[in-house]
Amino acid sequence: MKLTWKLAASACVVAAALSGCERQEEAAAGGEVEVLHWWTSGGEAASVAELKKMLEEKGDTWKDFAVAGGGGETAMTVLKSRVVSGNPPTAAQVKGPGIQEWAREGVLANIDSVAQAGNWDGLLPGVVSSVMKYEGNYVAVPVNVHRVNWMWANPAVFEKAGASIPTTWAEFQTAADKIQKAGLIAVAHGGQPWQDSTLFESIALGVGGASWYQKAFVELDQVALNSSTMIEAFDTLRMVQKYIDKDAANRDWNLATAMVINGDAAMQFMGDWAKGEFTAAGKVPGTDYVCMPAPGTAGSFTFNIDSFIMFEQKDESAITAQAHLAEAIMDPKFQEIFNLNKGSIPVRLGMDLAKFDQCAKDSSAEFSSSSQEKKLVPSWAHEMAMPPANKGAMFDVVTAFMNTPGMSSKDAAAGMASAGKI
Ligand code: GAL
Repeated sequence: MKLTWKLAASACVVAAALSGCERQEEAAAGGEVEVLHWWTSGGEAASVAELKKMLEEKGDTWKDFAVAGGGGETAMTVLKSRVVSGNPPTAAQVKGPGIQEWAREGVLANIDSVAQAGNWDGLLPGVVSSVMKYEGNYVAVPVNVHRVNWMWANPAVFEKAGASIPTTWAEFQTAADKIQKAGLIAVAHGGQPWQDSTLFESIALGVGGASWYQKAFVELDQVALNSSTMIEAFDTLRMVQKYIDKDAANRDWNLATAMVINGDAAMQFMGDWAKGEFTAAGKVPGTDYVCMPAPGTAGSFTFNIDSFIMFEQKDESAITAQAHLAEAIMDPKFQEIFNLNKGSIPVRLGMDLAKFDQCAKDSSAEFSSSSQEKKLVPSWAHEMAMPPANKGAMFDVVTAFMNTPGMSSKDAAAGMASAGKI
């Protein structure tokens, strides 16, 4: 028990007859926060453990509500059923336009008092704070900035195969051929819809560039969706698919990362939560592994911002504990330690990055430069760009394409256009 609570408790013993004491003791003893998330891999679990620690330091109790499954699809299904049954958690990992959808249901708490006390408007980039607000009020708190368009490469595997790490999709093909001929796996991938779309998203950005990406995946422009550029992106996906091993079906993303870490595969196309796995395995960037933008995407940045929506609470101690949670997430100490483990960069502006590695420093520099050059785009595969229904329909198209060798790129492009119209 912290000293201040001890004092509060003993004051209550002395003044036991005074009203309000019981309540004071209850608040002093802290409340419970139940937090739904899908951070269950090695790097993710290490990151979320830091949040739990900070809450416990504030005297609150952490009730873990982890629902395994990268990308969070299962977690979202579970969340819906909990809310429908009138029993929402304190907070849940929900991102992008999904925040607005939940807020429209009228189930979220207004956390403006915490945001004002913490000067969130001054500490968050405008693109971030606007997503965290519904009708001008904060209903969610952002955690980090992930970059999705990364390629994670094991240089020893490239060396064994006499191949160079690619910067274009043509170079990729040359390198991947050599790696395959050397009897090694070129691309570590897991055949799950969100991973298929994460891969396709980076390919599409590399093939079409940021302004086409913006039109297609953010504005859902029919011409851009059903274009020759989209067809070329699917052709490229078909090419890349040849270099994925036959056991990829339903493999978890972190197991694919482990293949690169262990030297069983040369590269993975995945957001920088993959770096959390390299970090957890004690690997050093620049030596044991290399982080590079996915081919053709240097200078562009697909962002994925994790955030927690806050559900309305009835009980006083739950409201206080929820405020503690929101405060803790924006605390500079948490922003540093969490993001060092998670592979992302702090979302809070003005943070010192001295303890961060080169991949994070590059990410931070490109986050700013890509924004100036209009090459900063939201990741649609990670819920940031379009309403969940459109996203789900696009996932179906990309995964059907991956699983149906006879499906043409032209049909896939038409499918993406239909998915954009829902
Ligand atoms: C993303 C999420 C990341 C990471 C990843 C894999 O959607 O934003 O934080 O956890 O899924 O689970």
